[in-house]
Amino acid sequence: MSPVTLAALLGFFFVPAWGQSSSSCSSTLTPTNSIKPSIASGYQAALVATGLTDPRSIEFDSAGNLLVIQAGVGIESLQLQDNGGTCVSVKSKKTVVQASALNHGLALSQDGKTIYASSAEAAYSWKYDSASSTVSNTNMSVVTGMNTDDHTTRTLFMSQKVDGILLVSRGSTSNIDPLAEMLSSGHSQIKAFNLNNITANGYDYDTDGLRLGWGLRNSVGVAEHPTTGGIFSVENSVDQATRDGQDIHEDNPGEEMNFHGYLNGTQYSAQGSNYGYPYCFAAWAPSDIPDNGNLTVGSQFAIGTLNNTINDTYCAEQTPPRLTFEAHMAPLDLVFNNSGNEGWVTFHGSWYVNVLYELEV
Ligand SMILES: *[C@@H]1O[C@H](CO)[C@@H](O)[C@H](O)[C@H]1NC(C)=O
Ligand SMILES: *[C@@H]1O[C@H](CO)[C@@H](O)[C@H](O)[C@H]1NC(C)=O
Ligand SMILES: *[C@@H]1O[C@H](CO)[C@@H](O)[C@H](O)[C@H]1NC(C)=O
Ligand SMILES: *[C@@H]1O[C@H](CO)[C@@H](O)[C@H](O)[C@H]1NC(C)=O
Ligand SMILES: *[C@@H]1O[C@H](CO)[C@@H](O)[C@H](O)[C@H]1NC(C)=O
Ligand SMILES: *[C@@H]1O[C@H](CO)[C@@H](O)[C@H](O)[C@H]1NC(C)=O
Ligand SMILES: *[C@@H]1O[C@H](CO)[C@@H](O)[C@H](O)[C@H]1NC(C)=O
Repeated sequence: MSPVTLAALLGFFFVPAWGQSSSSCSSTLTPTNSIKPSIASGYQAALVATGLTDPRSIEFDSAGNLLVIQAGVGIESLQLQDNGGTCVSVKSKKTVVQASALNHGLALSQDGKTIYASSAEAAYSWKYDSASSTVSNTNMSVVTGMNTDDHTTRTLFMSQKVDGILLVSRGSTSNIDPLAEMLSSGHSQIKAFNLNNITANGYDYDTDGLRLGWGLRNSVGVAEHPTTGGIFSVENSVDQATRDGQDIHEDNPGEEMNFHGYLNGTQYSAQGSNYGYPYCFAAWAPSDIPDNGNLTVGSQFAIGTLNNTINDTYCAEQTPPRLTFEAHMAPLDLVFNNSGNEGWVTFHGSWYVNVLYELEV
């Protein structure tokens, strides 16, 4: 399982529950606050672990332990006990890495023997033994030079199709980050780093790696399609959008799911291209946008004051999303099922909504 950030935040596992009876669970935990998720038909949810500090990403290691990265704390390994059905409990816990700088990203190498985790500044690696839940060396910096303010999570994703390729997503420094229009800033980009070739100095985010896309405001969720190997991301888009002096932020722009091609060398013409930010965004409610011309849901359009360089013609030339979600849904992760014809997106949500959605793909 890949990190399901919202599930981790809530401490819940969401489990498709076809044909299962809701058997009683002797270790049932109840939330300490009154917020319980409401569950769609065919699914069950059970609280698995409590007492975590700001858990951000989760991964199963090769021994079946659940690794959890906690912002400001480090990485913990939870040995789980399967009590049948959706009844899973924590048998024991062990600190794997204690490092207050770590704040979000977590990934494992394909062979399960290396852990990767991120701070705002860098992605680090450690040699890992899942049998003892221990790391055997001090960290190595694999990707550095990412420190910025505001959006400080660096989502890590290890390809399961092409060995040794680590994807690193880096967001903007602010709601509208002018530096993101400069490729050399490294802001608002997703890059792929080949760890088979890494040297002792590691990689620099801005100057090394294969760019999968830029103009991506803050793409917190990254996933690889299990059969095609296609790379998708989900992006948190801009707040407080205006156009021609009119406030359009209530229902615009939409949040985006973007496609970035493949890691195996197969060419996809839009790979590495500009996805629009900080100038262009996907329309969600075109009728709320003044001078909306031919805009439909998902069309890229310009915000602010349009001029003879940045306008809807310019925006129509930037790579559009594959799928557009309601404004302010704040997607945090995307996972596919093994056959790749269903996927799930966790949304942090706004003041009025937070959900985990299932998509047919
Ligand atoms: C990495 O190792 C250095 C040197 O031991 C240490 O100062 C730093 O805190 C470590 N960082 C992480 C994230 O473990
Ligand atoms: C980098 O690694 C890849 C895959 O392991 C290999 O094919 C390629 O030749 C290496 N490139 C360099 C410059 O070493
Ligand atoms: C790379 O992936 C694409 C898309 O799944 C596939 O069509 C192509 O055959 C693959 N190429 C190689 C060399 O495996
Ligand atoms: C056009 O608009 C963009 C975005 O607001 C701005 O950066 C640029 O300076 C403007 N150009 C002109 C010629 O006004
Ligand atoms: C929109 O911008 C493009 C360049 O990006 C320019 O060629 C075109 O003339 C502009 N259109 C208007 C109406 O200003
Ligand atoms: C919408 O109209 C603009 C300006 O006429 C054009 O450049 C653009 O290609 C059109 N976009 C779509 C999605 O049809
Ligand atoms: C994944 O896709 C397969 C093939 O369509 C389907 O049978 C299965 O139910 C799906 N699994 C989940 C967990 O949704």
